[in-house]
Amino acid sequence: MRDATPQTIYLSDYKPFGFDVTSVELTFDLAPNCTRVRSKIAFEPKADAERTFFLHGKELKLISAKIDGTDVSPALSDDGLTCTVPDAPFIWEAEVEIDPENNTALDGLYMSNGMYCTQCEAEGFRKITYYPDRPDVMSVFTVRINGPHPVLLSNGNPVSQTEGHAEWHDPWPKPAYLFALVAGELVAHPGSFTTRSGRDVALNIYVRPGDEGKCAFGMQALKDSMKWDEDVYGREYDLDIFNIVAVDDFNMGAMENKGLNVFNSSAVLASQATSTDANFERIEAIIAHEYFHNWTGNRITCRDWFQLCLKEGLTVFRDAQFTADMRSAPVKRITDVIDLRGRQFAEDQGPLSHPVRPESFQEINNFYTATVYEKGAEVIGMLRRIVGAQAYDKALSLYFDRHDGQACTIEDWLKVFEDATGRDLTQFKRWYSQAGTPRVTVKDAWYAGTYILTFTQHLKPSATTPDPQPQVIPIVTGLLSPSGQEVVSSQVLELTEESQSFTFEGLAERPIPSVLRGFSAPVVLESELAENHAAFLLAHDTDPFNRWEAGRSLAKASLLDMVRTDAAPDTQYLDGLRAVMSQGDLDPTFRALMLGLPSQSDLATALHDAGDTPDPDVIWTASEKMRAAQAEHLKEILPGLFADHQVPEPYKPDADQSGRRSLANATLSLLCRMEGPERAQRQFDKADNMTQQLAGLSVLLREKAGDAALKAFEEQWKDDRLVMDKWFGLQVMQADPDQAVATAAALTEHPDFKWKNPNRFRAVFGALAAHHAGFHAAGGSGYKLLADWLIRLDPVNPQTTARMCVAFQTWQRYDAQRQTLAAAELDRMLATPTLSRNASEMLTRIRGTQS
Ligand code: ARG
Ligand code: ZN
Repeated sequence: MRDATPQTIYLSDYKPFGFDVTSVELTFDLAPNCTRVRSKIAFEPKADAERTFFLHGKELKLISAKIDGTDVSPALSDDGLTCTVPDAPFIWEAEVEIDPENNTALDGLYMSNGMYCTQCEAEGFRKITYYPDRPDVMSVFTVRINGPHPVLLSNGNPVSQTEGHAEWHDPWPKPAYLFALVAGELVAHPGSFTTRSGRDVALNIYVRPGDEGKCAFGMQALKDSMKWDEDVYGREYDLDIFNIVAVDDFNMGAMENKGLNVFNSSAVLASQATSTDANFERIEAIIAHEYFHNWTGNRITCRDWFQLCLKEGLTVFRDAQFTADMRSAPVKRITDVIDLRGRQFAEDQGPLSHPVRPESFQEINNFYTATVYEKGAEVIGMLRRIVGAQAYDKALSLYFDRHDGQACTIEDWLKVFEDATGRDLTQFKRWYSQAGTPRVTVKDAWYAGTYILTFTQHLKPSATTPDPQPQVIPIVTGLLSPSGQEVVSSQVLELTEESQSFTFEGLAERPIPSVLRGFSAPVVLESELAENHAAFLLAHDTDPFNRWEAGRSLAKASLLDMVRTDAAPDTQYLDGLRAVMSQGDLDPTFRALMLGLPSQSDLATALHDAGDTPDPDVIWTASEKMRAAQAEHLKEILPGLFADHQVPEPYKPDADQSGRRSLANATLSLLCRMEGPERAQRQFDKADNMTQQLAGLSVLLREKAGDAALKAFEEQWKDDRLVMDKWFGLQVMQADPDQAVATAAALTEHPDFKWKNPNRFRAVFGALAAHHAGFHAAGGSGYKLLADWLIRLDPVNPQTTARMCVAFQTWQRYDAQRQTLAAAELDRMLATPTLSRNASEMLTRIRGTQS
């Protein structure tokens, strides 16, 4: 049944739990349809505790409940139980029965290919047993598992292992969302790490038999992460063992359960033959992310789920620092900004906009968003920029000292910075409470030797931020001379007022500004600077990010002109691009990024912001024309670029080789636009790694010459789920706009379209949603197909359904006919009688009323 009236939870209603939990003992008797879970939990009433308590519980069959050994009969409801309790410390014991095999929602305890695994963040533990399932209740857990499986795992350190039985003890108090259990026929890829204080830690990556050969890279990434966190943050690992388990059916990327990280197999399994360079880089980053949570998330956790960015923003920021150190810092920054604009800016400009720290929600799982994660990380980056790297380190040490073992808030976090630096962060805190992307306008002036930069900030009022106030915006700025010399090196200008000027004296001639270097704040920058400003920076900026950004803004301006007036591609952009591409000393990855164009969805956003109605087909055509123009303009240098960036050495997924492959593949794609598909076919045929094979296939598909290759690829990889996800997705991605929906629909008929597997569902429908002109096809067929499938998926897996609803978030920016079609599908989904709370909240917010 549909939840009657979904309840809204408010940050302002926070109340501590009335009891401390001093220990938890759990015993699992595993059975696919009737797992028994026995719990023995020691509670201590706090001073003003009431004589009843409420424990969360969902979809549990209560077998028995006792307090201090005496049977009790609690009052049961759909979301838990209420029971009268003593006013002194007491022991709660309960036995419940659950059905992991039929748990298709993939939270709580569930089964994937015969193995048991858990996902408890945010509120999955209540599907395992009755418990105060809130992050501010932390306790020490002992777990006993009975089951016929060779591998039985839980958090903490192993106490005993005998056939059919294992006991684990986690000495670190933790909230229930970090609980994990895994049981199955798994094999371990082992490793070890010695911490800097000399603790030997056993490491394992557990996988299904057959996947052993795909663990080495992840293992190395784990060791690199452990070392990096010691070197850079002074954080050491704190148990004797650290286990990672790969699971095929998983709603998200991975989960940082204490000592037992559970990963979507796509986020850990890697091999030359089956993974692209991009997969390797992502895996390295996710392993680091989950590992870093051990301190930022586990040792110091969140008081309540409104504080989610406390652990996620910080941990994303830390994993980005790690990737920057392991690979190229400018490249990492550029790719993060592309992602931020594509996902977070889009979210912040539409009906799902919310502050980094939301103040209300219905379903917390709907708030694992780009805003909480990526904008949350940007806020940490700004804080570090404002206080400086040294003060940041000092504040972090204080944070770990002061709050280890606690469940904290953003107020605690900012107080640490205030105490460490003496700064008042009241205004800075608005980054956590105000939704929306600030727009910053920059203009300059030059009077008799004085140079003045003037910035203005503006934040559009929104539902959650009706009366926006100026924020603290760090704008890293350098000045160049007209001949391209850096005359004033990078410094942080702090914009705190609505409008503010910064003056530079002593310059011999009028400089050219390079502002917002490194994308020092998550804002939309609008330039009122000289006409040729971007072209100049593209040629001369010493800041790699801004050099890339200059190219991007020229490309964007040109594309918008092409869309609006059918103008020809801008030759100033193409000339500048050719100059950069010809610079042999520039990092190949950087040059490959220079060839990128703003996404079609980003162009639609820009048009909408400017008061135009974006037409997806016109945007598609303009982008294709721009691609053709790039190919034509670079035709003399493309064959050389392609040849010079082949990688003759044995395959390695490192930054150097990946960079060469990414430039060669970007070049291949352009070359084949002029020459036809032969070169791509040759690359596909002789590829010894997935990066090359997939790049060949994608060009072949685009050139309508991919039928044979597609068959061959399927034949080669039909037994590899992760590779087949690529096969499914790529066909949709590379389809022409008028074919994308039909292609996706046809793929859903394929016998291997195992739609209950989130990776497979996302492979097809994530690709369709990302195909801008395909999904927004004029007749509404994209909206309808996705809605049909979301209606089907929702009763099976509400979390993944709700996440996929995001595809509709931009519906209001298109023409009246598309809006009518999209609204009809949103209404049809909303009318589903059994709609989950997850999907209901998302669809209601997306449908909205604002225009
Ligand atoms: N904490 C996990 C991570 O960031 C993600 C958990 C996502 N949970 C959810 N219900 N969406 O690594
Ligand atoms: Zn995380």
